[in-house]
Amino acid sequence: MKIVVLGATGQTGQYMVNQALQQGHTVTAIVRNPGKITVRHDDLKVVEADVFSADSLKAHFKGQDVIMSCLGFPTSFFSPVTGYTLSMKAVIGAMREAQVSRIVTMTAWYTEPSSGVNSSFLIRFFLLPLIRSVLNNMLEMERFLQETEDVNWTVVRPPGLRNQPASAQEFLTHEGYYVPEGGENMTTAVGRGDVARFMLALLGSNAWVKKGVAMTTK
Ligand SMILES: NC(=O)c1ccc[n+]([C@@H]2O[C@H](COP(=O)([O-])OP(=O)(O)OC[C@H]3O[C@@H](n4cnc5c(N)ncnc54)[C@H](OP(=O)(O)O)[C@@H]3O)[C@@H](O)[C@H]2O)c1
Repeated sequence: MKIVVLGATGQTGQYMVNQALQQGHTVTAIVRNPGKITVRHDDLKVVEADVFSADSLKAHFKGQDVIMSCLGFPTSFFSPVTGYTLSMKAVIGAMREAQVSRIVTMTAWYTEPSSGVNSSFLIRFFLLPLIRSVLNNMLEMERFLQETEDVNWTVVRPPGLRNQPASAQEFLTHEGYYVPEGGENMTTAVGRGDVARFMLALLGSNAWVKKGVAMTTK
């Protein structure tokens, strides 16, 4: 397939690019700093564009099969996080213009505030308040996608991330804001390589189209 990767210079994005190339896909990595991409491959094109501008993105989306987003915007104590919604609005606008209908994007467990009651004491009272501005903007982006009827979107929600390559572990999934039987994994987290593996595996099926799926590994 012809795949666009957004956030390709990030920790999950790099696993995504490498795995996609290994699987034989043709990858266009859209980045703000091309110098950060170290991998070289005949099937990899690296382009610089603005993820907040549909005009900047649309030419690179033409002829592509799917957009995979591993974008991340850090928490700020001084201003609300807006990167998820602002970039997604530009991306969807560019997808419409370029006639690309499929996007897989990542957010996180517990974007919906009341779902946090299911997490451990430490996560509920220390971690989640710290990252609430990120989670709130992720949730707003998820709601924007839910109202986007002309696009086949999937929101992938992982728990905490650690820098580990893809494993062969079985995935646990749940249509919701966390994986109930994966509760203990929230402290141990999931490998970024496995998140990339999960997102790429979605391309071979119609599973989770127009749905949010919480995932982790067994
Ligand atoms: N940390 C966790 O435990 C955890 C848990 C669940 C979900 N998540 C979420 O999962 C996603 C991926 O996480 P990660 O740790 O792999 O992310 P990451 O390493 O921080 O990478 C973020 C990516 O977004 C790009 N980006 C940020 N601001 C941008 C901007 N203004 N314009 C263009 N590109 C921009 C970065 O580009 P540059 O390289 O140019 O900066 C980078 O490629 C994030 O949304 C994160 O919040 C994280």
